Amino acid sequence: MSSAVAKRLEGKTIVITGASSGIGRSTALEFARTAPRNGLKLVLTARRIDALRQLAEDIASEAGPGNNVRVLPFRLDVSNPDEVRGFVAALPEEFRDIDILVNNAGLVKGVARAPEIAEVDINIMFATNVTGLINMTQAVLPIFLARDGGRGDIINIGSIAGREPYPGGGIYCATKAAVRSFTDSLRKELIATRVRIAEIDPGQVETEFSIVRFYGDKAKADAVYAGCEPLTPEDIAEIVVFVAGRRENVVVADTLVFPNHQAGAGILHKKT
Ligand SMILES: NC(=O)c1ccc[n+]([C@@H]2O[C@H](COP(=O)([O-])OP(=O)(O)OC[C@H]3O[C@@H](n4cnc5c(N)ncnc54)[C@H](OP(=O)(O)O)[C@@H]3O)[C@@H](O)[C@H]2O)c1
Repeated sequence: MSSAVAKRLEGKTIVITGASSGIGRSTALEFARTAPRNGLKLVLTARRIDALRQLAEDIASEAGPGNNVRVLPFRLDVSNPDEVRGFVAALPEEFRDIDILVNNAGLVKGVARAPEIAEVDINIMFATNVTGLINMTQAVLPIFLARDGGRGDIINIGSIAGREPYPGGGIYCATKAAVRSFTDSLRKELIATRVRIAEIDPGQVETEFSIVRFYGDKAKADAVYAGCEPLTPEDIAEIVVFVAGRRENVVVADTLVFPNHQAGAGILHKKT
């Protein structure tokens, strides 16, 4: 017997950006766990293709014998507009009829404050978090609009940083504020269709996020989570699948998620 959510996900083709790690990786696993026998097609994208291939194997073993989840690991750099423009056409035909796009790829670089923020970091954060997300949306949206007068889901991963800017996060916060603004515009622009636009804004989640922020310095990344219990990527993945798995008339438009010790971007209660 299938759950209601598994039935609603029946036969869906789901694209996840940034699936090689953290929230994106967990989201791929959670979709497969939720609907292992419902003909899901998962297009898992990121720059690290080896990690995506490993994830495909992990999904096959977790979903178990008899599962019919089909997984396509696909190398895609969302910060490269040419790659994104060619993305849909480069998919094998059977993976092209996309139903759900999870715009998750994103990153933060450094904690520098103006006027010391490196130009290279500014550019990569905007190119990935903002332009990448917008370009992916524009690449996939025509597929949704061509379906029954407009049908499909876009789930954008924003951040508390997009709501509450903090010192040392000026660029990252600006990118996530841009995601929030674009997402809200899009929902309004598409009101005459059945396309659902959702944003999920996590607080602190322990992933590779802080390792990337500190340019690979694991000790600095670990210090971020010392004395507290951050969210896990699975916590966010469960919400993504919940949002995608609602009845078609239900739009979970906007979700803010904290671990219990957090109440804002800089409001963290740590054990001393
Ligand atoms: N962790 C947190 O505390 C937190 C809080 C709020 C929001 N978020 C947001 O959650 C999302 C996922 O982050 P995470 O925490 O799961 O971090 P993560 O473990 O570092 O994962 C980030 C993912 O994004 C991918 N990515 C980065 N640049 C990319 C590019 N140019 N093209 C394609 N993929 C790219 C990475 O894959 P490759 O390196 O293989 O390309 C990786 O799979 C991000 O949008 C982040 O801003 C995180």
